[in-house]
Amino acid sequence: MIGLLNRLFTRAEPVLSEASARDAAVISSLHALSFRRGWSEHEIEALLIDRNVVTHRATSGRTLAGFILSRLIDEEAEILSVAVAPAWRGRSLGRNLLNLHLRRLAGLGVSAVFLEVGESNTPATKLYERAGFHEVGRRENYYQETAAKGSTAVVLRRDLA
Ligand SMILES: CC(C)(COP(=O)(O)OP(=O)(O)OC[C@H]1O[C@@H](n2cnc3c(N)ncnc32)[C@H](O)[C@@H]1OP(=O)(O)O)[C@@H](O)C(=O)NCCC(=O)NCCS
Repeated sequence: MIGLLNRLFTRAEPVLSEASARDAAVISSLHALSFRRGWSEHEIEALLIDRNVVTHRATSGRTLAGFILSRLIDEEAEILSVAVAPAWRGRSLGRNLLNLHLRRLAGLGVSAVFLEVGESNTPATKLYERAGFHEVGRRENYYQETAAKGSTAVVLRRDLA
């Protein structure tokens, strides 16, 4: 009985795989939970069926635990979004998703990956620094936090070749 209860209440370790258009609704929900401006299910679905977009997901049972999504342009890629569900944050899932994603991009012939991150977003900045990204630019007042004050976006790059 105790074994059964343990199995029911212990979250399965997330499994990483490529996402498909069927994941649009759950990715849209996690995106809305993680960012000030959410993407609609329709916007996410359009990305998921775009042949130049690569998306990975982490699922724990039937629950989406995280995702990462990039757009490819020639030999470069831009990470458009990455998020881990609050219950799974700080448990290396972001790192595992990013590593798998970068390996896949390298396999597709991508030589450089770019992204923008809010200057004050410490978990994301640490995640990218650990993965070998470095700063190549800044956009002041990029994210509008209040009517009067925006926050700086840092542009990061990592070479894969
Ligand atoms: C950014 C995000 C994806 C990281 O996912 P995660 O699974 O928590 O990341 P990991 O557990 O793999 O940790 C990655 C690094 O961040 C650090 N970190 C995680 N949570 C942290 C926190 N709350 N404060 C400080 N550092 C933190 C970890 O210590 C680790 O650094 P280390 O390797 O130097 O120890 C997650 O926090 C998230 O979804 N945030 C909201 C959406 C977002 O901001 N996305 C990024 C947009 S650019």
